[in-house]
Amino acid sequence: MLALPATPPASLLDGLDPHGIPRHVACVMDGNGRWAERRGLVRTAGHAAGEEALLDAVEGALALGIEWLTVFAFSTENWNRPADEVAFLMEFNREVLARHRHRLHEQGVRVRFIGRRDEKVPPALLDHMDRSIELTRDNTRCTLTIAFNYGGQAELVDAVRAMVAEGVDPDDIDVERIRHHLYDPEMPDVDLFVRTSGEMRISNFLLWQVAYSELVFTDALWPDFRKEHLAAAVAEYQRRERRFGGLLTEAAP
Ligand code: IPE
Ligand code: IPE
Ligand code: MG
Repeated sequence: MLALPATPPASLLDGLDPHGIPRHVACVMDGNGRWAERRGLVRTAGHAAGEEALLDAVEGALALGIEWLTVFAFSTENWNRPADEVAFLMEFNREVLARHRHRLHEQGVRVRFIGRRDEKVPPALLDHMDRSIELTRDNTRCTLTIAFNYGGQAELVDAVRAMVAEGVDPDDIDVERIRHHLYDPEMPDVDLFVRTSGEMRISNFLLWQVAYSELVFTDALWPDFRKEHLAAAVAEYQRRERRFGGLLTEAAP
């Protein structure tokens, strides 16, 4: 479980290897409801408080030089929540995009989405998603991908459906062909997977892309998450030894 350093470093990059920054970091933004409940507030107040955490995490990603940041905003299973919470989240996500896409654009962030664009997602939200994509499409500093109405299993189902619909020959199906049919074929595999709120599970996030991710968990609830937590997660990542099923060169005979 991740711990923040006792004294915060002067710069976010202090103590980090600038050549060992993970290219793709994925965050499960979890614990909003508990954050609110602990304060005697309604759960949706926790979602609202998570907005600041997201903006700070993006700033952290930019400061650290993380090229891809993917955040889990709403899962295919989150429709099972009470109707008023779901309705709040639809409205809230639309407002977040309306409030912040210009700032993200100024910061050089390219905004993208992964997930099912089905009839359950309100048209007004889809419209703001499209406007955010369009506004920021040529930015190159960092890609912020928001997983909305996203499920890792649904993504694989959709990829298989697309391949069958195209009449792809089974003999032509390989890792690259499947990757090509994911929601964003350009998205690299996840290097660092971070989940807040103490839960140690994947919850159907990026199943394909986490094949060799380093997993880091923190007790911090998402509304309390700040760029320092992201930097601490990167520090933990840099202490790991990634092998990808092989051997480290120095260990090889
Ligand atoms: C994550 O926080 C946000 C969404 C799933 C939309 P939760 O709402 O899951 O918060 P907890 O896990 O109940 O505390
Ligand atoms: C995962 O969190 C989904 C998002 C953060 C959007 P959940 O709170 O839905 O996951 P579980 O139910 O604890 O596994
Ligand atoms: Mg949760």
